[in-house]
Amino acid sequence: MIRTNTSPSANLADPSVASDETQRFLPQVGLLALDRQYATLRNEIRAAIERVCDSGRFILGPDVTDLETELARLLGVPHAISCASGSDSLLLALMAFDIKAGDEVILPSYTFFATASAVTRLGAVPIFADIDPDTYLVSPADVKRKISRRTKAIIPVHLFGRTADIDALMPIANSAGIPVIEDAAQSILSTWHGRCSGGLGDIGCFSFYPTKNLGGVGDGGFMTTTRDDLAAKLKLLRVHGMEPRYYHQVVGINSRLDSIQAAVLRVKLPHLDRWTIGRQENAAHYAELFAEYDLDRHVTVPTDEPRGRHVWNQFVVRIAGGQRDALRTHLAKCGVGTEIYYPVPLHLQKCFAHLGWGVGDLPETEKAALETLALPIYPELRPEEQETVVGRIAEFFHAPHLRRRAEERVKADAPAESPLKAGPHFLRTMKAVGRADDVRC
Ligand SMILES: Cc1ncc(COP(=O)(O)O)c(C=O)c1O
Repeated sequence: MIRTNTSPSANLADPSVASDETQRFLPQVGLLALDRQYATLRNEIRAAIERVCDSGRFILGPDVTDLETELARLLGVPHAISCASGSDSLLLALMAFDIKAGDEVILPSYTFFATASAVTRLGAVPIFADIDPDTYLVSPADVKRKISRRTKAIIPVHLFGRTADIDALMPIANSAGIPVIEDAAQSILSTWHGRCSGGLGDIGCFSFYPTKNLGGVGDGGFMTTTRDDLAAKLKLLRVHGMEPRYYHQVVGINSRLDSIQAAVLRVKLPHLDRWTIGRQENAAHYAELFAEYDLDRHVTVPTDEPRGRHVWNQFVVRIAGGQRDALRTHLAKCGVGTEIYYPVPLHLQKCFAHLGWGVGDLPETEKAALETLALPIYPELRPEEQETVVGRIAEFFHAPHLRRRAEERVKADAPAESPLKAGPHFLRTMKAVGRADDVRC
């Protein structure tokens, strides 16, 4: 039974009144609470930072090398090579395969921007593939359709912590003779048939962005590979192609991990599995709560992955009936933090307009961008906070007048043909959310 202090259908004649009244009983729930994790490791983290400061070795150095060894061991791969960010890890991976102007790289449009920008920064062309509507992961069938003579790599994204369908993708890449670069930024410790993401394709790319399952105290990232030749190339590319000092073998970039980041990450790494279990338990608890509240007509809850470990970097629900934005507003009023990953699919971003993609080209991607909402899922989230989140969602949907109003609005807004094809440019249908300097990618 739900342990909210109000019944889900408590006085809802006026939604703002209802929220104000229940506000006194239900806790506010932030999308994230990084301070809770920090509080448990505060002394160790501070000591690690101090140790680096005392040593005077701020770039690469022993902490970085040790972190790389520990990451490789944890993920069961021979090589982990750190770099300055997850975005750089993708760029470096593409550079390691000599991806250049005119080459095509297939990737989902439903992902964080960095997956595609790495491609365009090399002058190559991102070819966007649609997603599976149930998993939000790139559709292998669409990838296959989009392979051409110019395709030089595929980048599946293990979005929200779930491994992409490697069983289907690897044969496509193998028969085309092209590498698979895994964007594993959101999926550290996710598995596929028992093997960790990052070791499934040719290069795995990870992010230490603070909101990731293993987050630093700033930017950072790393790459994994099972191939010695690629590991050597990636190590060279991250230091301006320099070996030995001031002798440049190739043109690389400056993308080194700071020792302070590495030292902090080494404090956190031993806890990652336990934190991941916390996320898995929270996902299971959400599933129970949504079932109890009988919300399946309104809310599609994400499923677990039967072929591997889902690490739940995000818990993303789909909201039916064009009510996602109204629900989000309601939750914000109640002090429940949510996020939209991602409101504008990459193929419809202004900076990619020259590539010629339009509304309707990737229907499942566009639908997901309009319907999905991420709820708090971090490991330190408390059961009563999850109950509050689901209780607040139930409060929204079980208020008939609210539903009617939303329906009327959807009807009034509905374009003649399809909500996705007709109407103005997709960007104009989306309300901007969040500031650019507060990105939670
Ligand atoms: C799927 C995905 N790829 C790449 C990145 C880029 O990582 P970073 O922010 O560390 O550059 C992110 C987000 O951070 C991401 O979520």
